[in-house]
Amino acid sequence: MRAKKIAVLTSGGDAPGMNAAIRAVVRSGLQDGLDVVGVRRGYTGLLNGDVFEMNLRSVSDIIHRGGTMLYTARCPEFREKEGVQKAANKCRELGVDGVVVIGGDGSFRGARDLTDAGIPCIGIPGTIDNDIASSEYTIGFDTAMNTAVEMIDRLRDTTESHDRCSVVEVMGRRCGDLALQTGIAVGATTILVPEVEYDFQRDIIDRMRFTQKTGKKHFIILVAEGVGGVDALAKSIQEQTGIESRATVLGHVQRGGSPTLRDRVVASEMGNRAVELLKADKENRVIVMQNSKIIDLDITEALQMTRPFNVDLYRVAHKISI
Ligand code: ADP
Ligand code: F6P
Repeated sequence: MRAKKIAVLTSGGDAPGMNAAIRAVVRSGLQDGLDVVGVRRGYTGLLNGDVFEMNLRSVSDIIHRGGTMLYTARCPEFREKEGVQKAANKCRELGVDGVVVIGGDGSFRGARDLTDAGIPCIGIPGTIDNDIASSEYTIGFDTAMNTAVEMIDRLRDTTESHDRCSVVEVMGRRCGDLALQTGIAVGATTILVPEVEYDFQRDIIDRMRFTQKTGKKHFIILVAEGVGGVDALAKSIQEQTGIESRATVLGHVQRGGSPTLRDRVVASEMGNRAVELLKADKENRVIVMQNSKIIDLDITEALQMTRPFNVDLYRVAHKISI
């Protein structure tokens, strides 16, 4: 075993469950005889040597907390070769011989570059978007979905009382998973995602008119962030149907809050696996979930993978919510 001192950092957008992953990395590492340091604010902290020694108690009382105790950042400098080199030198200076990076695809590109610069890295998928092609699940997705469902259930109460239409935006710039799952769970009349083109008349107005004829008086139209334009959509719906319409952007509330059981358990398992890999002298690997099992893949190969959108489920959603 080469690794003696490992570092853990969170990078990119935060996600509920990141703390549970940090806790697992720290506790597994220490139990296995490694020294563990925490890096503040992702790659920015690595470049600047903003690190601190962690012990078993450093990660007490965080498993139920959203956000990340290590803070997170986006670090443009790390996208440049010089930045990566500087971080690798800082790791050598600190005696860090392995890094666990919790984040999304961008963070994994950084982890790949840092491995190439001589510091073995392991990635753990943490993002509410579920947009990592190599993994069927990312830490934070379950919590974000449940938060969105809770918020939209509240919206539904007032939407129903006023016989209105609510056009709701959930997060997901390039990936419609959050919108799809949430849309099914709240019975949205139409779900708009970046992966599927839509026709305003056919997919929104005609569907609303059809359900209206069968007695429905209130509507939820769910829109992924990557489609956007909820204000304009609400206005057009009101103009075309005469139904009072309101736009709501759920925004960053979806990124916070106490992680669900699923996120805590997956994060714990993935964190432990990352340490096992470093102990086995593995590098440039990412921990992923495939067929409900937690496995590891080469980061470079994982970054080249593509995952098709679940069109079957999308069709089911629209068949039922009518
Ligand atoms: P995520 O990890 O959630 O996809 P970002 O895309 O914002 O989030 O990436 C997080 C950080 O990872 C960036 O701020 C940057 O420091 C690093 N990063 C992103 N893309 C690259 C890249 N192509 N090469 C090296 N580092 C990168
Ligand atoms: O990657 C997670 C995510 O919340 C996306 O859904 C969203 O597009 C983006 O991050 C927002 O990022 P920011 O932190 O810059 O607002």
